[in-house]
Amino acid sequence: MSDAKPFYITTPIYYVNDVPHLGHAYTTIAADTLARYHRMRGDQTRFLTGTDEHGQKIEEAATKAGRTAREHVDAVAPRFAECWHQLGIQYDDFIRTTEDRHQAVVRVLWDRMLARGDLYLAAYEGWYCVGCEAFYTESQLVKDGADWTCPTHKRPTTWVAKERSWFFRLGNYAQALLDHIEQHPHFIQPDAYRSEVVSFLRGGLRDLSVSRTSFSWGIPVPTPDPEGQHHVMYVWLDALTNYLSALGPIDGPLSATFWPRAVHLIGKDILRFHAVYWPAFLLSAGLPLPRTIYCHGWWTVRGEKISKSLPATRIDPVKLAGLLAPAGWDEATSRLLGVDALRYYLLREIPLGNDGDFTFESLLGRYNAELANDLGNLVTRCLTLLPRLLAAGRPPARDAALGARPLDLELAAIHAQAVADTGQYLEAFAPHRALEATWVLVRAGNRYVDQSKPWELAKQPAGVESAHVAHVLASCLTTIAQLIAPVLPAASAAILTGLGAPTTPRWPGPDLAAWSGAATFSTDKAVPMFPRLDDKAAARIVAAMVPPEVAEAPAPAAVSPAPAAAPAPAKASPAAPPAAPGAAITYEQFMATELRVGHVLAAAPVPKAKKLLQLTVDLGEGRHRTIVAGIAEAYAPEVLVGRKVIVVANLAPATIRGIMSEGMILAAGDEAILGLSALDRDVPAGTRVR
Ligand code: ME8
Ligand code: MG
Repeated sequence: MSDAKPFYITTPIYYVNDVPHLGHAYTTIAADTLARYHRMRGDQTRFLTGTDEHGQKIEEAATKAGRTAREHVDAVAPRFAECWHQLGIQYDDFIRTTEDRHQAVVRVLWDRMLARGDLYLAAYEGWYCVGCEAFYTESQLVKDGADWTCPTHKRPTTWVAKERSWFFRLGNYAQALLDHIEQHPHFIQPDAYRSEVVSFLRGGLRDLSVSRTSFSWGIPVPTPDPEGQHHVMYVWLDALTNYLSALGPIDGPLSATFWPRAVHLIGKDILRFHAVYWPAFLLSAGLPLPRTIYCHGWWTVRGEKISKSLPATRIDPVKLAGLLAPAGWDEATSRLLGVDALRYYLLREIPLGNDGDFTFESLLGRYNAELANDLGNLVTRCLTLLPRLLAAGRPPARDAALGARPLDLELAAIHAQAVADTGQYLEAFAPHRALEATWVLVRAGNRYVDQSKPWELAKQPAGVESAHVAHVLASCLTTIAQLIAPVLPAASAAILTGLGAPTTPRWPGPDLAAWSGAATFSTDKAVPMFPRLDDKAAARIVAAMVPPEVAEAPAPAAVSPAPAAAPAPAKASPAAPPAAPGAAITYEQFMATELRVGHVLAAAPVPKAKKLLQLTVDLGEGRHRTIVAGIAEAYAPEVLVGRKVIVVANLAPATIRGIMSEGMILAAGDEAILGLSALDRDVPAGTRVR
């Protein structure tokens, strides 16, 4: 048992301009997984989600829907709650920013910031992206004809001319934030995002406009404006405060327990708001900062970020889970087993923090190989063999001599390792590694069945060996059911029910021999949890999910494994301003790209991806990197080995076809690769190129 520490995890509160999609489900499922794990460890756990209901974006969506803002938010917010219910999400609280309990705390925060002298009135003008609800400078936008376009939302920003506004002295907090980040290495994770925030802060901060007067759908600013204008609070100041307001009064008991332990799980689109604005507001208000801001990447479809504003990328998570739901179970169990299959894919396919491209190929590939085959087979074999092994009414019983056989010792060692690793990776926000670690045990369990041949033992009268093997199998399967519970709660409960065990999972101990469970098994439930999907079933799922016009549309140019490294880790979030194509960049902006000499040590084709090669590259770091490059049509793998190329070394890692790619090789050409970067002399690997 870990020390029982409070654990407070939050998701972003989602905009109610539209209904949820797979991207929202991803964050919520990841948070749910971590909350379930901490509950199993006995930690005092609180999991918060909710909806962001004020601001111009919502007001515009309401107008478009022909309703008042109030009618609109009241209609859409329950769609989020319903989606989470369908997906079996166990949150402890759901906050809406239109609730009184929230607005009361926002006003307290405002008053504290005002009392500190950090708020003043002035006039503002600039480009505003309603999608982001944020002001941008031109260097952060993309010039497109007469428009300045937001790189995230891919639509023109609007010019806000000389609007009277309250300002927050954000500029005063850059150094304090840098100090905090330095003293708290776990404050912003993973590392790539911490570096991004640090360089943003080092660039200095301008004061932030924190009220608007040109529309009224927001929390009224409590401080009167001497010029008599009506201000509503900037929606991000309002929204970020949800994490605190959901704990009740800021000096109340819930805040005292949970606030300093807060973990904000977010997508990289909103890193700057969480890692810069929010802590600055809190410092100004004299409040403690959250423990961790954990930033994950973007799911893309054909390289485009899944988003409300790009309909072709939208995937309805409830519908997809429904298509994966197995037959032969009661309605609720079947639905939740379908959800488990989706949870497994989302959390196993890419590390939290990386981008990843959603494909049915990888979803169904993992489903068949890892859920139907590895786990499903082990469960069905154990649940059918156990009662046969115990036919003569003999309970499972471990035998010391048999337990010392090599196959038993090997399984016991793998068991202990899997229990330790799975827990350690879940503590470290690495569910993909946790699942990988558990699956080592799943596969070892299948090997044990192969080697101990229980079907032969079952033909003999029940004896010492059959009771022993029954003990090992029941013990191993119980552990697996417990280890998978955070990610696959329905499958866990189904296995535990099949074993006649209580379905409230506890975190297992390392010792395989310590198990003392039921003597009888209710094996009428040997219906497969994850039945294999053949090509026809797979095609049916794809057809049901993908509208025909999307299926036929060619992938947009930006998507086809771009110059060399394939799906770039999406457009940088606004914190790292992308320059307009062709526009001049500063030397500092150029130097932010770390180009280094890479020595290609190995190259191999990526299965079923005709454009991709997987390269092993030495950058003189004492370890080797894997880089997936879209150059397979231009270069045979064997001609690359031994070559020196130029690598973008500080590109955020991205998972491409299930392979983590850590960098990009510079190459010439757009669609087709025409040539590869090279050096005219032999330069050591790792040398910087500028
Ligand atoms: O930004 N991949 O709300 P929002 C991964 N209201 N995650 C994704 C995703 C994708 N393609 N698309 C969305 C807001 N998400 C604000 C937040 S918090 C005080 C206010 C997830 O509806 C991810 O967590 O635009 C992202 O940060 C969030 O949804 C944005 O949701
Ligand atoms: Mg958004």
